[in-house]
Amino acid sequence: MEIKKLVDVCLSPELLNRHHLQHKTAVIVDILRATSCITTGLAFGVKSITPLEDLEECRLMKQKGYIIAGERNGKKVEGFDIGNSPFEYRQPAFINSKVAITTTNGTLAINRSRMADHVVIGSFLNLGAVADYVRSSEKDCIIVCAGWKGKVNLEDTLFAGALIDRLSGSHKPDGDSANIALSAYLFNRSRLLEEVKTSEHAIRLKEHGVIKDIEFCMSVDEYQVLPLLRGDEIVDGQSDSM
Ligand code: MLT
Repeated sequence: MEIKKLVDVCLSPELLNRHHLQHKTAVIVDILRATSCITTGLAFGVKSITPLEDLEECRLMKQKGYIIAGERNGKKVEGFDIGNSPFEYRQPAFINSKVAITTTNGTLAINRSRMADHVVIGSFLNLGAVADYVRSSEKDCIIVCAGWKGKVNLEDTLFAGALIDRLSGSHKPDGDSANIALSAYLFNRSRLLEEVKTSEHAIRLKEHGVIKDIEFCMSVDEYQVLPLLRGDEIVDGQSDSM
């Protein structure tokens, strides 16, 4: 009988000290919108994206030639080149550029997951590419949801369930949080966008007039890009093997 690998889910960065990341592949997710932005940026030719927790540290990266991207509470940071919309990454001027990014929850979740053996950035936009990578790895997996300021959120939990579903041939859910995510996804799979539109952060973004981002971030398998954390930078792991 084939022995399946395990897939765990950490539903909020506040719970990271309750989960084991060592010897695992960690998939970090912040559907609205940090990891959807990172995926889109690399798909559109950005060379690397450096995730930073600290706003001022990110601001200083401008002097080193980086494009600086940042949001707090869903709003663009004053003086930054761009905010946190995936559409802002789709410009010719960004091709081959280096971006430094800081966001409320997403970049924090990435940086606090560095003890994993491999750190991969996941979103619905590159769900298939992430699933292929995790499936082909020898390691167990943990999906780390960025949530919102320490709280669990709907959209990241649904992504965790979708990834577990895609991994069903190679990995089995490890514990209650993985089963909760899978059940939530299976229950909502035919109406994911409608469900996510009811989430706290979607409502917050709608108040800022941001609606097209929500629809875009919920598109599945738009890109084959595989964002991997290498040192301080996130780069496209697919272009390595070309
Ligand atoms: C975050 O990191 O908290 C988000 O990406 C917030 C946002 O939607 O801009």
